[in-house]
Amino acid sequence: MEPSSLIVVGVDGSEHSLAAVRWAAAEAQVRGARLRLVTAWKVSTLMYAAEAFPPPYTVDLEAEMRRKAEDMLEQACEAVAADLAGVEVERMVRNGPAANVLCEASAVADMLVVGSRGHGGFSGLLLGSVSHQCAQQAPCPVLIVRGPAA
Ligand SMILES: Nc1ncnc2c1ncn2[C@@H]1O[C@H](COP(=O)(O)OP(=O)(O)O)[C@@H](O)[C@H]1O
Ligand SMILES: [Mg+2]
Repeated sequence: MEPSSLIVVGVDGSEHSLAAVRWAAAEAQVRGARLRLVTAWKVSTLMYAAEAFPPPYTVDLEAEMRRKAEDMLEQACEAVAADLAGVEVERMVRNGPAANVLCEASAVADMLVVGSRGHGGFSGLLLGSVSHQCAQQAPCPVLIVRGPAA
């Protein structure tokens, strides 16, 4: 593998995604690759539709969601700081549907790493919708980390 190889990881703050970061960090050490930790955020239309909170809004939802995403990624990095030691790490926070954001961020990547599940979704599923969509659409090999058992 070239010294400039790139491993992209999807981080939503869940334990599953932290397991993905740890796995990717170990792989980056072996390959001499750099890591790109990517968090996607999106304002749900449901948030605007909530009856209990009719407009006008005094809070800038978009700015608030972006800030929360940045904070979450920062905390995730702190949680796995020991695993990231010695690895070149770049953080990326982007607006958009998570799988699309991850696939775009992986355009020139050697590998995309995600957890099998995340924060949301339906507990019966073996695979979350983001990891499923990445497996189908990513422009590079995808590694799905079966993280901590539910
Ligand atoms: N908003 C997001 N930004 C970046 N990565 C994400 C995001 N959501 C999910 N992922 C990645 O996809 C993995 C699987 O999550 P997901 O498919 O959303 O499962 P669930 O349905 O359980 O939430 C996560 O462990 C994480 O690696
Ligand atoms: Mg999810």
